[in-house]
Amino acid sequence: AGTPHLGDNALNSSLDRVRADDTEQRLTTNQAVPVSSNQDALKIGLRGPIALEDFVMREKITHFDHERIPERVVHARGSAAHGYFESYQDLCQLSRAAPFAHAGKRTPVFVRFSTATGERGSPDTARDVRGFAVKFYTDEGNWDLVANNIPVFFIQDPMKFPDVAHAIKPEPHHGMPQASSAHDTFWDFASLSPEITHMLMWIMSDRAIPRSYRMMQGFGVHTFKLINAKGDVRLCKFHWTPLQGTHSLVWDEAFKLRGVDADYHRRDLWQAIEAGNFPEYELGLQVFTEEEAATFPFDILDPTKLIPEELIPLFPVGKLVLNRNPDNFFAETEQVAFCTQHIIPGIDFSNDPILQGRNHSYPDTQITRLGGPNFHEIPINAPLAEVHNNQREGFHRQTINRGRVNYEPNSLAGGCPFQAGRAGFVSVPDAVIGNKLRGKPELFADHYSQARLFWISQSGPEQAHIIDAFRFELTRVETLAIRVRMVAGLVNVDATLARAVAAGLGIAVPPPLPLATTLPLPVYAPSPALSLLYR
Ligand code: HEM
Repeated sequence: AGTPHLGDNALNSSLDRVRADDTEQRLTTNQAVPVSSNQDALKIGLRGPIALEDFVMREKITHFDHERIPERVVHARGSAAHGYFESYQDLCQLSRAAPFAHAGKRTPVFVRFSTATGERGSPDTARDVRGFAVKFYTDEGNWDLVANNIPVFFIQDPMKFPDVAHAIKPEPHHGMPQASSAHDTFWDFASLSPEITHMLMWIMSDRAIPRSYRMMQGFGVHTFKLINAKGDVRLCKFHWTPLQGTHSLVWDEAFKLRGVDADYHRRDLWQAIEAGNFPEYELGLQVFTEEEAATFPFDILDPTKLIPEELIPLFPVGKLVLNRNPDNFFAETEQVAFCTQHIIPGIDFSNDPILQGRNHSYPDTQITRLGGPNFHEIPINAPLAEVHNNQREGFHRQTINRGRVNYEPNSLAGGCPFQAGRAGFVSVPDAVIGNKLRGKPELFADHYSQARLFWISQSGPEQAHIIDAFRFELTRVETLAIRVRMVAGLVNVDATLARAVAAGLGIAVPPPLPLATTLPLPVYAPSPALSLLYR
């Protein structure tokens, strides 16, 4: 039934053409010239200088000299695996996106998990948001769902992304601290950016120290659009739920593991897959209309807000299974290039400003990180669906396109790639009108209601962990004014929380930070169902 699909083995076999097995093969240079000795350079007399003509030694060392590429500017530390996504049902009523074409349809995937802040060699169990990036190699091109394990984000506008990243990364004068937000610059920025409050509550919770990559959720964060073949549009949020359950470390474990085994999560993922204990996650959707969104007490374009499941329940649409470790860390895990801009027919962007900013940022950074505009040809990035267009040149071009015509319109090719029209990717024809200006919608100014919602959804021990985390982090902040300003923000979340943190810091509870909104803040009543949602 349904459209043909690529199957979970398609990616594996497509990578065969670039796999190499050197066992028992003759050693050669990169020009395939047999090498007589790989141990001694060519010398003028055994005690004399090395000859410049020793191309074998120079090629070997030159390659080595260039083996490092820049690490990702964020999410530098990561681990990845291959697998497949299987759709539970035909979702054609909702979206024409290829992975959901019929029940049982399998789409090959490559998934990279990461910490956001630490450098490439930093420890896995640092307190941090985790990346959960999925590349679907669909029949209609690659779709990347570049998610995190926390459903909201630090900021509301991409203009502030370099600032939040600079503040949280090691301080620029001495390069410290590694893989930690416990320092003045991060909390300085945080205490001056109240929109960060909801994210901070999650970051200080046990969610930021997952037990395993196999045991954490993933969230697309932004609102996206789903479009069916008739052009009907629904809004949607994407969620991954681990079928092994969501579990965290406790801080003492996480802290000690940083020293004992920096590869704790990487090893766990690798070993589980080697042992045939394949990690599985269910994809759930929250689907809603513009009319429903207009009734919510927050703006669905604001990435610092989630949609409580009491408002819009989650329904499961398929399963992700990770069943194969990469062959080569550099070729696959390091060179994979995810991008929010990689979407396929049936899915479209919303106007969430962070999503729009990300669409620019990822390919831009990858042009530097992966050496030019042809990184889509690197095997792990290449779609399984065929690529046909008039692009030909640039650094490291692999494809040898034939013929004299690389432009359009033309009368000489007699059959150049044709445009797919409505069968191709068509943007939702939203009517957009407005003045050019810088600023934010009014509802974006409520920074505390959902932070409070998160706080009250936590059990007693979980709340105690959040208090401990704030105390731990803020006692490492040297500037008293920053500590005070931070607690002043927490007063707007919950008085008990603010009191407990202030006591830990040995300071009086300051007056609350002024609220940035003139709107009455929505009150979310705690409910047992909601508490369950967050566990
Ligand atoms: C990686 C930028 C927000 C999830 C990256 C990278 C950049 C970046 C430059 C490195 C990409 C590479 O070298 O391949 C930004 C900007 C953001 C933003 C400018 C906001 C304006 C977010 C959000 C999420 C997210 C909201 C989650 C929903 C990730 C993940 C990775 C990543 C998972 C790692 C991808 C991988 O494994 O290769 N981001 N990001 N980012 N980002 Fe973002």
